[in-house]
Amino acid sequence: MIRLENVCKTYRLGGEVVRAVDHVSLLIEEHEYIAVVGASGSGKSTLMNIIGCLDTADEGSYFLRGKEVSDYTDRQMATLRNREIGFVFQQFNLISKLTAYENVELPLIYQGIGFSKRREMTMAALERVGLTDRMHHRPNQLSGGQQQRVAIARALSGKPSLILADEPTGNLDSRTSEEIMRLFDELHHSGNTILLITHNTEIATTTSRSVLLVDGRIVSDTASEKIGSSVTREGEK
Ligand SMILES: Nc1ncnc2c1ncn2[C@@H]1O[C@H](COP(=O)(O)OP(=O)(O)OP(=O)(O)O)[C@@H](O)[C@H]1O
Ligand SMILES: [Mg+2]
Repeated sequence: MIRLENVCKTYRLGGEVVRAVDHVSLLIEEHEYIAVVGASGSGKSTLMNIIGCLDTADEGSYFLRGKEVSDYTDRQMATLRNREIGFVFQQFNLISKLTAYENVELPLIYQGIGFSKRREMTMAALERVGLTDRMHHRPNQLSGGQQQRVAIARALSGKPSLILADEPTGNLDSRTSEEIMRLFDELHHSGNTILLITHNTEIATTTSRSVLLVDGRIVSDTASEKIGSSVTREGEK
């Protein structure tokens, strides 16, 4: 579903040059649940922004569902992002004036979905995260865990092909974090493709695959270790 080939992203700030993403090649299949781990500054968010079509690579190619995203205009990227990707952030990023219901509904309005279909999809997403009883609350009337549930419902509402989550439990206490991680597990089991960024190596063990970034490079990938060992076996035959 996702194919990155030798993707690079370099930042130049003053005299300093930082290669935030350095020749990353990565294949993500549909229904995978993958954690990207690495120290602060290792390029996790930069990589996620490229995968999420929020930013473009300056070298290499990126294919999302067979489409070469590097050739897209900003407008085409925005449309693709709206349709294909749901985002969850550490700071929840909810709109404070809007209720939980309205926050979840918003991406569907952007997608041009009609009122009754929109209501059906919004209610379904709120139900998935167990928040129908709080749908008329605004973010400041909800706990952190509930706000993150709203953000997850918003990410889900348009039925995206990929959910990207950048440190989704970074602002939550450990019990609430576990709840949110259970929710991601459920979403994975019901067929969603999820890429989760985390500092927390314990969380990374709960996903089916994990990739470690150091200085913008992938230094280990549990999937390629599996593929690698089967390739060796093939070779031995
Ligand atoms: N807009 C930018 N301009 C200049 N440098 C940047 C920019 N964005 C990121 N960087 C640099 O790129 C590197 C990777 O940053 P990135 O935000 O991807 O790291 P991260 O792994 O997400 O870190 P954290 O865990 O702290 O969120 C860092 O050295 C950072 O300073
Ligand atoms: Mg980051």
